[in-house]
Amino acid sequence: MAAPQGAAERAQALRAEISRHNYAYYVLDAPTLPDVEFDKLFQELQGLEAEYPELRTPDSPTQRVGGVANAQFAPVRHKLPMLSIRTETDTEASGAENFDARIRRELGLREGDAPVAYLAELKFDGLAVSLRYEAGVLVSAATRGDGETGEDVTQNARTVRSIPLRLHGNKPPAVLEVRGEVYMRRADFDRMNDRQLAAGLKLYINPRNAAAGALRQLDAAVTAKRPLSFFAYGLGETEGWDAPQSQGDMLDTLETLGFPVDKHRERVEGATGLVAFHRRVGELRDALPFDIDGVVYKVDAIDLQKQLGFVSREPRWAVAHKYPAQEQLTTVQNIEVQVGRTGKLTPVAKLAPVFVGGVTVTNATLHNEYEVHRKDVQIGDTVIVRRAGDVIPEIVGVVAERRPESARQFVMPTECPVCGSAVVREEGEADHRCSGGLYCPAQRKQALLHFASRRAMDVEGLGDKLVEQLVDQAIVRTPADLYRLGVAAFAALDRMAEKSATNLVAAIEKSRETTLARFIFALGIRNVGETTAKDLARHFGAIDPLMSADEAALQTVPDVGPVVAASIAAFFAEPHNREVIEQLRAAGVHWPEHEVVREPIGLFAGKSLVLTGTLPSLSRDEATALIEAAGGKVSGSVSKKTSYVVAGSEAGSKLDKAQQLGVTILDEAGLKALLAAGKNVPSNPENPDS
Ligand code: IVH
Repeated sequence: MAAPQGAAERAQALRAEISRHNYAYYVLDAPTLPDVEFDKLFQELQGLEAEYPELRTPDSPTQRVGGVANAQFAPVRHKLPMLSIRTETDTEASGAENFDARIRRELGLREGDAPVAYLAELKFDGLAVSLRYEAGVLVSAATRGDGETGEDVTQNARTVRSIPLRLHGNKPPAVLEVRGEVYMRRADFDRMNDRQLAAGLKLYINPRNAAAGALRQLDAAVTAKRPLSFFAYGLGETEGWDAPQSQGDMLDTLETLGFPVDKHRERVEGATGLVAFHRRVGELRDALPFDIDGVVYKVDAIDLQKQLGFVSREPRWAVAHKYPAQEQLTTVQNIEVQVGRTGKLTPVAKLAPVFVGGVTVTNATLHNEYEVHRKDVQIGDTVIVRRAGDVIPEIVGVVAERRPESARQFVMPTECPVCGSAVVREEGEADHRCSGGLYCPAQRKQALLHFASRRAMDVEGLGDKLVEQLVDQAIVRTPADLYRLGVAAFAALDRMAEKSATNLVAAIEKSRETTLARFIFALGIRNVGETTAKDLARHFGAIDPLMSADEAALQTVPDVGPVVAASIAAFFAEPHNREVIEQLRAAGVHWPEHEVVREPIGLFAGKSLVLTGTLPSLSRDEATALIEAAGGKVSGSVSKKTSYVVAGSEAGSKLDKAQQLGVTILDEAGLKALLAAGKNVPSNPENPDS
């Protein structure tokens, strides 16, 4: 039965409306309709198409769900080859400078001639595709393949929500081929892996592999379930199109046609412009919501591009300038167990040295036994190591095909590898611990390092090499021993000379004068971080009442719950710990007699705030200082008691939790505005300097 006129018109209107909402949602990131309303429209269209199959056009949004599975991909010959570009891998400015110098030479420019204008873009780490639109409708999508012939992934590309099925505007070119990158956003990747984990399935290694795998699924219905995204960056064949005359204008035009184009692109001039772009993006890289492996420089003017032409299938007018790779393959030579300050046993993979993220990596923490099994890392495995920014290196996955016959499972030891004490694991905890306490030299070393650390007693110059010797040679057993040692004792150690020993003694001397909060923190009580130490200092005002407080009394301190109270009580119940405190006091460690006992005053008095993500200008320490100065506390986790969550870019689960609990969310500007407004609130008149 032919579709009545009304049904055809309705279907067309629905297609247009659904496409508009899809665009707002997936390209503009600005939803225009609640999900339920959207679903209604979608179902109505599906209903019409089921009744009148001839209404099911290739550009219908219902076609994004994927069709029947293919046995294999059909080959597609690219009308214009899909080129690759030359890569400059060095991290220094010279990559950009070499490129600019080459371009100027090729164009016959001299010193003193005007700088060349470039369009600088991000280099997305995904999979290149070419999308072909005829009369405004997406008719085919192909992978790059060997550049001449790719694979037909049309059905799969239709499932990518940010790829327009129909171009915007009412005068579409006869033919428009748009090239760009299919990729996966990091948050989508993490969510997808969480689901895989929950379902007991294999984890994906990184967003790029996940994206490539998803696009090359033979069953488009599978692709449809993978959260893929797209950025346009170039052109293939065009016909009947008044093509823009610069790369920048071209991308702007593609944006108006409905394509997602990354907003970090910039028109810059000369080598200095390129170098500055490379540096800026390098700083931004870790905070981006997706992976990039470099930047791409393109001569902006199309006529200059034509003049420059190609060498051996690579355009002379474009170059990729990479950043140091953040992922590398290496092998796990062993899995050792480290013992931390609180006795926690951490499996650490000993790796064949590998240069990744700008440094040579030989260790990667595996956190705990559960993590080793979750990632299925075995000794002898080839693994992918990732190091991004200043984050500690991690193993993201195992290359299963490369597991040798001789691979061995990791087994958590039953005795502490350092002191031989029994290893215990508390009910419901993931971590194993050494039960040796300060009898265990490993715990002693870590306890000393923590004691001396900047935020604790701040003994400058007492690093791990020194602590190692001091403990191994039994020169220092407790932190109090530090205060008994003279220049000669330190000077006798490896890597120490008279001068450095003198400086160290002076630093130890200086640390005698401290604050109660630092002192409590320095003790290294389990579950007592800097914030709790400050709370305890503020509440008890002196060490003796803290030492004699029972668990009930401890729980009257804001934010101290049963677990923390039990840790504190257990610490002070240990005679050895009390002795160390006495020795420290006898050694002259002291703090202002009447430390602030008053309740905090200020805008955030009694309030607890949580920081998450990267703020645009404030560091975490700076934000914490501002909040504390206003009487607030910064806490590590979001609860119903949290007053505000201050969220920056790449905020994760804490932000989700805040939204769930209805906690007020601020960005940096919001925080600053509140603080600025708070300045006008009169402070406590009895305490004008608060
Ligand atoms: S332009 C003729 N621009 O990097 C120029 N490529 O070899 C063709 N890529 O696999 C490429 N981001 O998929 C260009 N902004 C960008 C890009 C980009 C990522 C990929 C591309 C290709 C490789 C270049």
